[in-house]
Amino acid sequence: MSSYKRRPSPGDTEWFVRDRFGMFIHFGLYSMPARHEWVKNYESIPEDQYDRYFRHFDPDLFDAQQWAKTARESGMKYAVLTTKHHEGFCLFDSAYTDYKITNTPFKRDLVKEYADAFRAEGLKVGFYYSLIDWHHPQFPIDLYHPRRHDENAAELDRGRDMTKYAAYMRDQVRELLTNYGKIDILWFDFSYAPSEKYAAFQFSGGKGKDQWESEKLIELARSLQPGIIINNRSGVEQDLYTPEQYQPNDWVRHPETGEYVTWEACQTFSGSWGYHRDESSWKSPETLINLLVNTVSLGGNLLMNVGPTSRGVFDPRAEKALKVYGDWMRSNSRSIYGCTMAEPEFSAPAGCRLTQREDGSRLYIHLQTYPFKHLAFEGLDPQRVDYAQFLQDGSEVKFKPLTQKTDSINRGKESLPDKPSTVFSLPAIQPGLCPVIELFLK
Ligand code: GLC
Repeated sequence: MSSYKRRPSPGDTEWFVRDRFGMFIHFGLYSMPARHEWVKNYESIPEDQYDRYFRHFDPDLFDAQQWAKTARESGMKYAVLTTKHHEGFCLFDSAYTDYKITNTPFKRDLVKEYADAFRAEGLKVGFYYSLIDWHHPQFPIDLYHPRRHDENAAELDRGRDMTKYAAYMRDQVRELLTNYGKIDILWFDFSYAPSEKYAAFQFSGGKGKDQWESEKLIELARSLQPGIIINNRSGVEQDLYTPEQYQPNDWVRHPETGEYVTWEACQTFSGSWGYHRDESSWKSPETLINLLVNTVSLGGNLLMNVGPTSRGVFDPRAEKALKVYGDWMRSNSRSIYGCTMAEPEFSAPAGCRLTQREDGSRLYIHLQTYPFKHLAFEGLDPQRVDYAQFLQDGSEVKFKPLTQKTDSINRGKESLPDKPSTVFSLPAIQPGLCPVIELFLK
């Protein structure tokens, strides 16, 4: 068994740390301007102009089954969909607002179709719910609000009642966790500190657990879906730490106790979460695979984002990126599912990342930088290895003790490591993207 103990938390995280890989889906009105989901904020778009997206929203090619199938074929085991993003638009048929998908030309409850289809495909179902709301009339104007630069911003802010908005969120979370069957993840987004610059506004622009009334929100969620996994962005620690758009370089630890926590990195294909037509910083296949491998090698999960177009489909660039995962996972997923950070006794050779099965029985070497012909694994006693093979085709990888002779072939060094070590023989040509050697340990 893995010797890493995670800090206990209220939700059911057992399945989550086995499944490791999920799909984040950012979908909303912002898919129409197609220049970032924060476009309303970035361009301070006035209400009447933003309303044009609402009046014309019609993702006519949307097919929930197709999304679910693509997610599964990409090796993803769960998904998290933006039921409401910061723009305030709801993809579900809420009784508490008119600003919802069923009032657009599209008319259908997309959240319902999503939840049913993903569940039917055998995937776990998660809901992202934005705490921030740039449409709700009671949501106080703050440092991120699109109206903050308006001449009458302070006046617009006056009389807005945060407690009413907090009650609205509870009403919606109740709907989301009552009307759509079993929900496995609730992903709140996000809390932020006040800034003096916005002193004219309520809370000087910041919002956190007191304003969201996060404790009540969480209590409600747990009463409706007891095992649900909840992230920490409402400002109350729950189950999940969520490093965003960067790669932690160690297992994420609890800031006070130093314990290992359950964590999930979230990443984009190209920088924006919502569909962005003109973005050109799409990640390479190597980077995509490395993000997943690096994350699992540090005991974390990866939530990889797709921003569907306003027609309701994944665009060809996203399809291509997802296929990179699908192709790689088809043969290599054994090093991902049910795996975690390798035991501290193993330290990865240069250019490699390790994962290990939760039960300790298999060790996986990911060759991120492919060495020529030989791989020396210092400190891995060859006596511990029963058999070694590539995952991509199940072909044997020969190995022998690292001796004076093999050492000089491989490294041109005189001194040998002081611990028994192993050298693997590799084909001269790299067998595919990020090859993985599977070691059956004795
Ligand atoms: C940020 C952004 C947001 C995105 C989220 C994903 O908080 O505000 O647009 O949904 O990160 O982690």
